Amino acid sequence: MGLIIVANRAPFRLTPEGLVPAVGGLATALLPVLEAKEGVWVAAGEWKEGGKAPATLKGPVRLEQVPIPEREWQGYYGGFSNRVLWPLCHYFLERTELKREFYQDYLRANRRFAEKVLQVWREGDAVFVQDYHLLLLPRFLRERAPGRMRIGFFYHIPWPSSGVFRILPWGRALVEGLLGADLIGFHTQEYAENFLRTAAHYGFPVEEGRVRVGDRWARVEVHPLGIDTGRFGELAQDPHIGLQARGLKHLAGADRLILGVDRLDYTKGILERLLAYERFLQSYPQWRGRVSLFQIATPSRTGVGAYRELKRLVDEVVGRILGNFLREDWVPLRYFYQTYTQEELATFYRAADVALITPLRDGMNLVALEYAYTSDSGALVLSNLAGAAEHLKEAFLVNPYDLDGVARTLDRALRTPEGERRERLARLKRRIQALDAKSWAERFLASLEAA
Ligand code: G6P
Repeated sequence: MGLIIVANRAPFRLTPEGLVPAVGGLATALLPVLEAKEGVWVAAGEWKEGGKAPATLKGPVRLEQVPIPEREWQGYYGGFSNRVLWPLCHYFLERTELKREFYQDYLRANRRFAEKVLQVWREGDAVFVQDYHLLLLPRFLRERAPGRMRIGFFYHIPWPSSGVFRILPWGRALVEGLLGADLIGFHTQEYAENFLRTAAHYGFPVEEGRVRVGDRWARVEVHPLGIDTGRFGELAQDPHIGLQARGLKHLAGADRLILGVDRLDYTKGILERLLAYERFLQSYPQWRGRVSLFQIATPSRTGVGAYRELKRLVDEVVGRILGNFLREDWVPLRYFYQTYTQEELATFYRAADVALITPLRDGMNLVALEYAYTSDSGALVLSNLAGAAEHLKEAFLVNPYDLDGVARTLDRALRTPEGERRERLARLKRRIQALDAKSWAERFLASLEAA
């Protein structure tokens, strides 16, 4: 069977040097499978990427672009995707802007995606749709496909509790849209259960992990996405990166380096983490002069007001912490607002004694996996509200809203003897191995074929 991947984004990143292949979990997971099947990747048009995308991605993989007019893009992406679904699914209800115009643009853009997929689809091809930008697409495809179309869908962000999802005036239509798929995947059991309860609420019969829609069934399964363990295994061993990591540690000028790495997004809890670190320095003065926090924040969705506002707030707290704690011989915090390559991130991972990954909500969080897989004796402090926490039981789990709790756990992680840290990491690595990104796509597609 042939394969068509549909995602809002093409697997590229825009850098000052132009477009470079994306290295995120999804691209890593899907490109090899697409290559083997000589498949097609369908994504939103190139014009907003600021560069011309090539027609083929990797080997024989073709890129097909869906042109979306600027104004409609604002409503579909900047509006409904990022100011309605994103905040709601991460439980930021006060940030959710229930505007009808956003929904209408979302509907139009999803129709455009459907047109494009129908143009490139051939009998026998499977279609694998990604994420919250395209909830209506499975149903549009199901209604218009000229033959039997096998449709898989993966929801990469949290599916909230049914009570929260039902705040959406278009909740039923979105669920119906998604139920056009044969197989719907989530990262955790919790999200799958929330989705099933939401579908039941809208009156769809639910039994044993499936939902009945007219005369067919949509199956719901949990397939946690991991990282490219082959690649991160290499980075963990690379002597050049090891050398750079020692340089970075030296630069920190402290016994222990604490690391945070996130897109600059309010769901990532960067502000709360900085406040927890400030609390930690106040409550555990014995660590002053001995630890340094490196916080990396990658610019993201800068066209959305909430993200610009967050940047201002983070800048302010960074300034305050430095103002209060900086000494001539000690820099308590370094803040990097920029994008790094995978090699550079691996350098930070290997240098860090503790990774502080404390999103307020997160579908999965692959940084936590990357850190645990690359570090050889570090400690992972992880939010229990990230999907990854369901899978990484040996992390030091924290409630990211509880500043005292995060400060206490940070102190504990820093005091944990090396033997125990290595033992925890070894267990984490085994779990991460089992979630490998490449086998994720294969497992999902095999299940879709059987559906
Ligand atoms: C999350 C979403 C992805 C999205 C990514 C970056 O991980 O699940 O679908 O691509 O954020 O966000 P952006 O809006 O830049 O695509």
